Amino acid sequence: MLKLFSIVSLAAIFQCASAAATSSTALSGLNTKFTAKGKLFWASFSANEAILESEFGAVTPENSMKWDATESTQGTFTFSGSDYLVDWAISNSKIIRGHTLVWHSQLPSWVSAITDAATLTSVIQTHIANVAGQYSGKLYVCRPLPLRPCILTIYSEVLNDNGTLRSSVFYDVLGESFITIAFKAARAADSTAKLYINDYNLDSNNTKVQAMVALVKRINADEQLIDGIGTQMHLSAGGSSGAAAALAALAEAGIDVAITELDIAGASASDYTTVVDACLSTSACVSITSWGVSDANSWRASSTPLLFDSDYEPKAAYTAVISDLS
Ligand SMILES: *[C@@H]1O[C@H](CO)[C@@H](O)[C@H](O)[C@H]1NC(C)=O
Ligand SMILES: *[C@@H]1O[C@H](CO)[C@@H](O)[C@H](O)[C@H]1NC(C)=O
Repeated sequence: MLKLFSIVSLAAIFQCASAAATSSTALSGLNTKFTAKGKLFWASFSANEAILESEFGAVTPENSMKWDATESTQGTFTFSGSDYLVDWAISNSKIIRGHTLVWHSQLPSWVSAITDAATLTSVIQTHIANVAGQYSGKLYVCRPLPLRPCILTIYSEVLNDNGTLRSSVFYDVLGESFITIAFKAARAADSTAKLYINDYNLDSNNTKVQAMVALVKRINADEQLIDGIGTQMHLSAGGSSGAAAALAALAEAGIDVAITELDIAGASASDYTTVVDACLSTSACVSITSWGVSDANSWRASSTPLLFDSDYEPKAAYTAVISDLS
């Protein structure tokens, strides 16, 4: 069901795009203004192709590259949803932020049922070789452009809030080594994509942030396998106050940092500009991804957390971010 949902939703996303038309005079070029400040891109995914084209420099699949969408049956790979997104991105000169190769959630039960370390290692390696391999050739087209790396999120949500490693089939069977196994497999499949580890509640300089920095330093001690840390930043109203400290602390891992799933309950202008300023003032912070464009498509729709309202009209937060970047 989830696999079907993600394919259908992606097709729907782009087919209904022209139906929801925002007047282009209301748009000011968010990504253009953000990249003028030295950043790589502001990304999103959307039901509105016109807004994506005008306002965002990269796209990310909400669901279509996840394990349940790409390998719901062992050894049978399905790329229709993610291919659509990748092809659209290439034809529209957008960077692609791949997401996510290994995650304890939206994981088929045949994977969760594995109890043997050698089997699970080979299953992780096969999955990543196929999914990252599917795009290593196609993603190549955006590499010759300066500052246009393609990005893959390898592991999502590896830590508990108290900083210990989360119980999952991956950790329970393989211990911390599953992270190294996954990143090595991704590097083998795509030698130049930026490989990210991604987590939530990294919104202030808290225990989890410190644990993430320590984890990355351990994994990268011998060779740099992890190129970046993603902090999702699904914030509550007023939750922006720790963002600058979080980004500065994450930057201490010595690799890139990105805000990867930004949405803020209530979408107050000051919360949004506080987060943008935190990224601008942290040189390691390379990009922002909004977790959707319009409140109509948000997973947190009732908290109206995005920059565009449910009619695809720019909100006060959008205007404030544009003037902050101007
Ligand atoms: C950390 O949090 C996890 C998940 O809530 C819990 O299972 C574990 O016991 C906690 N560990 C410590 C040392 O508090
Ligand atoms: C984050 O907190 C840790 C532990 O208290 C501290 O050592 C570090 O300097 C802090 N980093 C920043 C950027 O505030």
